[in-house]
Amino acid sequence: MSIQTTILQASDYEAAAKQILDAPTLAYIAGGSGDETTLQANQTAFKRSQLQQRAFAEFSQASTQIKLLNTRLRHPILLAPVAAQSLVHPDGEIATAQAAEALEAGMIISTRTSKPLDAINQVMRQNKWFQLYFQPEHKTTASLIKQAEENGAEAIVVTLDSPIQSVSLRAQKAGFTLPAHAQPALLKHITPPQHIHLTPDDSVIFQGLMQQAPALKDIEWLINQTHLPVLVKGVMALDEIDQLRAIGIQGLVVSNHGGRALDSVPDSLRLLAVMRAHTGKDFPLLFDGGVRSGYDAFKAIATGANAVCIGRLQLYALAVNGAQGVAHVLKLLRDELELCMALTGCTRIADISEKCLWRHD
Ligand code: FNR
Repeated sequence: MSIQTTILQASDYEAAAKQILDAPTLAYIAGGSGDETTLQANQTAFKRSQLQQRAFAEFSQASTQIKLLNTRLRHPILLAPVAAQSLVHPDGEIATAQAAEALEAGMIISTRTSKPLDAINQVMRQNKWFQLYFQPEHKTTASLIKQAEENGAEAIVVTLDSPIQSVSLRAQKAGFTLPAHAQPALLKHITPPQHIHLTPDDSVIFQGLMQQAPALKDIEWLINQTHLPVLVKGVMALDEIDQLRAIGIQGLVVSNHGGRALDSVPDSLRLLAVMRAHTGKDFPLLFDGGVRSGYDAFKAIATGANAVCIGRLQLYALAVNGAQGVAHVLKLLRDELELCMALTGCTRIADISEKCLWRHD
């Protein structure tokens, strides 16, 4: 099917992808959990936030470079972990990694990648991080970490907001099922552990799924398993963040899983403001949820993020034009971010602060 949308800004990829993806796949990608309250709130929050323009700054030495843990990045816009990318393009994560390599962007590779890590490693030399979902048995989790280390991962990002996969009702109603070619490549040869035996009085959620949710001691175990920095994605309770910092995590991804985990939690931008106030200015905070433009990226950085990640946008761009699409969407986001910096008087990412947000109402 030909695409009728002219792509001039990053969000045009969403409109274009809607014209080519089949309805169940689109519902799976675009959908959120529950009533999609959080999903909608993520984007509304950006629309509410306004900028403070400035006229006088000198840009000949301006740069968007940042250092995030051990990683030096040309721009503070990364690819969020997104599973099953072969769903929308035959080259899946390999195409995404090619784009990231070409643009020197960071990519966080999902545990549920549809392509093996060694194949991704062949096309992407640097700026790779690995997103970890704990597996029911530690030996499986340990083998995932080992593979990530062997294939050049520079950090581990462990996701803690979805021990129960809150299936999107939109995707269910559209009849979505994950096809064979998009199944997780890293989990293919793993023998599933024995099923937990439930009595008729037991709950599938309490005595079933939640028995496999990682506890604080498992995060401690993880930190001891690897020489890589460990970050946590999707924790919002401030006392839990304190506990995680006390055992040595080195950063957070402020995230509500793009409105795909617990519905009715606050939008990501609001969470970010609270987390930055709580953690102080030097603790690394990445951000995701609702970023559809470089303006959004700028607003998130002004609210306290060191860098932002894009989830759905990368899949839409991948669906529309493979590696070139992902490279193009990253370029468009960067151009928009630079425009915001230029017109708000920010010559470095460190200059972007809450002073760049309009506060006079
Ligand atoms: C995700 N996300 C996700 N997160 C994660 O930690 N591991 C994963 O495997 C996945 N897989 C995944 C698949 C799809 C189809 C989507 C849309 C999202 C969540 C992702 O990393 C990120 O938190 C959100 O996508 C950010 O919100 P936006 O940018 O999509 O609005």
